[in-house]
Amino acid sequence: MNGTKDSVLEVKKLSISIKLDEGLLTPVRGVDLQLYRNETLGLVGESGCGKSLLCKAVIGINDKKFKSEGSVHLVDENGKAKELLGLQFGGKEIRSIRGKSISMIFQEPMSSFSPLFTVGHQISENVRLHVTRDKQEARRMTIKMMQKVGIANAEQRYKQYPHEFSGGMLQRSLIAMALICQPHILIADEPTTALDVTIQAQILQMLKNLQKDVGMSIIYITHDLGTVAQICDRVAVMYLGKIIEIATVDEIFKNPLHPYTEGLIHSVHKIGGKTERLFSIEGFVPLAMNLDNRCGFYDRCTRRNKECLTLPEPHLVQTSEGHSVACYKYTNNSKPELLAKEVG
Ligand SMILES: Nc1ncnc2c1ncn2[C@@H]1O[C@H](COP(=O)(O)OP(=O)(O)OP(=O)(O)O)[C@@H](O)[C@H]1O
Ligand SMILES: [Mg+2]
Repeated sequence: MNGTKDSVLEVKKLSISIKLDEGLLTPVRGVDLQLYRNETLGLVGESGCGKSLLCKAVIGINDKKFKSEGSVHLVDENGKAKELLGLQFGGKEIRSIRGKSISMIFQEPMSSFSPLFTVGHQISENVRLHVTRDKQEARRMTIKMMQKVGIANAEQRYKQYPHEFSGGMLQRSLIAMALICQPHILIADEPTTALDVTIQAQILQMLKNLQKDVGMSIIYITHDLGTVAQICDRVAVMYLGKIIEIATVDEIFKNPLHPYTEGLIHSVHKIGGKTERLFSIEGFVPLAMNLDNRCGFYDRCTRRNKECLTLPEPHLVQTSEGHSVACYKYTNNSKPELLAKEVG
């Protein structure tokens, strides 16, 4: 991070819900999140906690059957402020933002490409939309980017269709598509899971270089805490559709406050560690439907006590500069002046 703290993206009280036959599912429940210029913010949490839905809502691509409430405030590359939530689905305005102001590397490379067009054509679309209308120039830029993400024989590959690519190759193509216009904000949803470790390291280095060159801000979704330690400045921990802890990377690893964060960190197996049995957090994330108004982690919490049951679900509370947590232990014990800074 460059030290400045101006935010490029501010998510406020964002909730996402969907009506199902069984009832109202609310996979994202009142998220507040800020992304600062030039920083890499890690977003971690168990499968199904709402990471992808949250990020897709930011760029307006969740299925229409999801209802989003709250606000998503963007400060674009020209310093212009824009409210993104409520922009017309697939409309001109959101399309002019996607790919340049905010780009996303999706979790599922297979379903992110149309089978009807060549991979090269699909990557170059962003260039033609945001950079140049010259097809030859767009093609040249695309081939260069494909080479940069490790696609050998890129000139040939440019002309091939998605079904002719392996999963790893498509993942690289998706990364090329997201980065080709040097986005102001990049949302990377588990971008390197399908790649082998050497190419993973190259891609991470590439993101870091690009960040330095063009001043990109990154939201990096991952299950891999090693990658978080390596590339992130801050980490937001999500559980059952809420941010339950947020702090700098150093602080999260040295001083995790929420029992869930503590559990996540203990779950990482250390090479050479003498543990005979791997640690895991007992139980499962509950379904975000018909929730009562108490702590969503209660049933799995190692520190729970009867008092927790008498209190409404805890909000994020700042416990020290840049460190906030949503747990009764801190809402009750925090100093009054910190409690006054309750977030959300
Ligand atoms: N189209 C859908 N219809 C119904 N429920 C959905 C749909 N898409 C997602 N969900 C539910 O919303 C919740 C959050 O999903 P999301 O994809 O955001 O999780 P995630 O945190 O990204 O998980 P993972 O780490 O596995 O990618 C999950 O419980 C999921 O089952
Ligand atoms: Mg996901």
